This record gives sequence, C-alpha cells and structure tokens, in this order.
Amino acid sequence: KSDIIVSPSILSANFSKLGEQVKAVEVAGCDWIHVDVMDGRFVPNITIGPSLSGRGKYYFEPSVFLLSKLLVMKISLLQMIVEPEQRVPDFIKAGADIVSVHCEQSSTIHLHRTVNQIKSLGAKAGVVLNPATPLSAIEYVLDVVDLVLIMSVNPGFGGQSFIESQVKKISELRRLCAEKGVNPWIEVDGGVTPSNAYKVIEAGANALVAGSAGIKTSKRPVALPV
Ligand code: DX5
Repeated sequence: KSDIIVSPSILSANFSKLGEQVKAVEVAGCDWIHVDVMDGRFVPNITIGPSLSGRGKYYFEPSVFLLSKLLVMKISLLQMIVEPEQRVPDFIKAGADIVSVHCEQSSTIHLHRTVNQIKSLGAKAGVVLNPATPLSAIEYVLDVVDLVLIMSVNPGFGGQSFIESQVKKISELRRLCAEKGVNPWIEVDGGVTPSNAYKVIEAGANALVAGSAGIKTSKRPVALPV
C-alpha cells in the first residue's frame, strides 16, 4: 500500500446510496472518508451533521454517526462552519477520527484553543487554509496539529477546477514543516484529479481528497415528484 492517503469525499456521493458507495471505496482500499460539514454561513452550501436519529435508526440518515457505524476506515471531518468549537464534541461522539477546522478568524477566533479541544477529546486535529490565506496564519499552530489541509478551490462545492497557485503553497508548507522539525499530514482538497495528483504529491502533499474523481454519482437517482 502506498504512503499517500486517498480520502474520497461524500460530497460527490449519491446520497440515496451513501452506505453502498462508501463501502465500495473502503473495499477499494481508500484510507479515509472525507466528510464536509457546511453551514451556509462560512461557505454557501449546507451539508450534514453528527446524528439525526438520536442514535437509533442510523441506516436511514446521512450523518457522521451512520458512517462511523458502517466503516472501518477513518472519518476525516472538515468543518467549514462558523464556530466549529461548538460542534466538535458532538462530531467526535458521532465517530469522527480526524477533525479539521478552518484557520480563518471568521470561522474560529481562538484556533490554538480549538485545536487543543479536538485533541483533548481524543481525535486528531487538522487546520485548513482557504486559497487566499497565507501560510503565516498557521505557523504558530504547526507544532500542535496532526494535519494541514490546503484548499485548492474556494470551499463550498464539488467539481470546481484546481487553483494552480496552491502548488507553491504546498511546497512552501513542506519546507516550513522541515524547518520546524514537524511532520503533519499535508492534505490537498479541491479539483484533485489523476492528472494533477502527481504534481501535488511532488510538491509535498501526502493526503489527497477526491470528490468528483473519487465517489461518482453515475446518474441522477430518481426524479422527485413535483
Ligand atoms: C469543496 C469540498 C471538497 C469537494 C472536493 O468545498 O471540500 O471536499 O468534495 O470535490 P472535487 O474533488 O470534485 O473538487
């Protein structure tokens, strides 16, 4: 098995077949499943939460709890929301193994505290940078995080094109980590495809999120009655 983590994103799944599709990528050998939590405030879209059913009937709910019951692979949760610290305990209780939060202050004000909160509840902690955010924003948490995620699209939607300027950010991050003697996973998310994956890995990434290039929705499942 290669040292590069592949993390398919459920954003590209057919939610009426979510269980089946995440199982298929697990059987195919993927390491993590990527779950985007969006609140319609920090990013324009809204997705899923920790648990809907009060833990009883998880087979029917698209939630982190369902995924954790179905899967052996790790759940990598990316919180693209305002005040992620409010939700961290519930997501970890629901089964998230790695919890990543945006470093921008419009998401969490006390990044260092939120990272420590995640770790103290037993999960691995990641920090995420939007394409316009410089690496200096995370320099002083690099010694305490398990993962740094470089967004290579503006977050909110699957299927967007890779922003080339982020390749340089990945190599600079790799250099900064070496300088500081730390070795978090360097993950890249957005527009990663088989044709640009090599470039991203060469720049220093060792974890790749694959949305459109990972789980594919073959067709629209059913037309909803109007
Ligand atoms: C973007 C999401 C991604 C998305 C990636 O906001 O964070 O996880 O699913 O999808 P692709 O690979 O299609 O860009």
